[in-house]
Amino acid sequence: MDPKEQHVSVSHPGYSDEYYSEDDAAVSLGENATEGIGAELRSAHDTTLTANLEAVKMLGLKLPTDPRWVNVAEKTIEEILTDHAFCEQKAATMGVTLIVKFSDHERLVDEVTPLVAEEWGHFRKVLKELKKRGMKLGRQRKDEYVGALHQQMRKGGSREQSMMEYLLVSAMVEARSCERFRLLSLYCADEYLRKFYYEFMVSEAGHYRMFIDLAKHYLPADQVKQRWEEMLITEAEIMSKLELRGDRVH
Ligand SMILES: [Fe+2]
Ligand SMILES: [Fe+2]
Repeated sequence: MDPKEQHVSVSHPGYSDEYYSEDDAAVSLGENATEGIGAELRSAHDTTLTANLEAVKMLGLKLPTDPRWVNVAEKTIEEILTDHAFCEQKAATMGVTLIVKFSDHERLVDEVTPLVAEEWGHFRKVLKELKKRGMKLGRQRKDEYVGALHQQMRKGGSREQSMMEYLLVSAMVEARSCERFRLLSLYCADEYLRKFYYEFMVSEAGHYRMFIDLAKHYLPADQVKQRWEEMLITEAEIMSKLELRGDRVH
């Protein structure tokens, strides 16, 4: 698919049936399912419909985003950068929350600590990009997507189960962010922006894998797989109800 072909206006941006296939996007979370995703996404850096579906399948997501979303997002670059900056801030904040809540879990603390620094680095990078363009950060927008994901988290249960909820929600946000950054890295008209988002895509793919691996380290793999499957279905339902907006990363 030629990126130029994507630059059509979408009066009612949403999810195209063409990009949605429940069967094709079947999830597998086997032993090695999350290994090498960053590398595979890098190699899957082409713009065909098949490549888009493959990338989504690798992330496990059940509802691929219509790439025409990029055309809308690109027109409101200040808005999308502001929303993106706060996505990075929320990722860093969530990392701190995880460390504080589960401070007696050594591997979690060891792996999430550098992630917090990286996410804050991402915030700074986006802020710098805004300033470079003479744009302002502005106020945080209501994040309906993350809010809805948090609402479906299970309360109660053991401490380990609570940790799994946090880890899998974090993995989900990373996976969806990665999918959106991949589209921006492919379809932005501006070559600079394509490179800019490519780096975020690779980074968030690694975070997605890290959160899933952490969940599998502390809980039985079949339990993680079952809960992840449930969350993927819920996430697709949440996504299908949200308006696909050019001023939001999610
Ligand atoms: Fe990030
Ligand atoms: Fe991340």
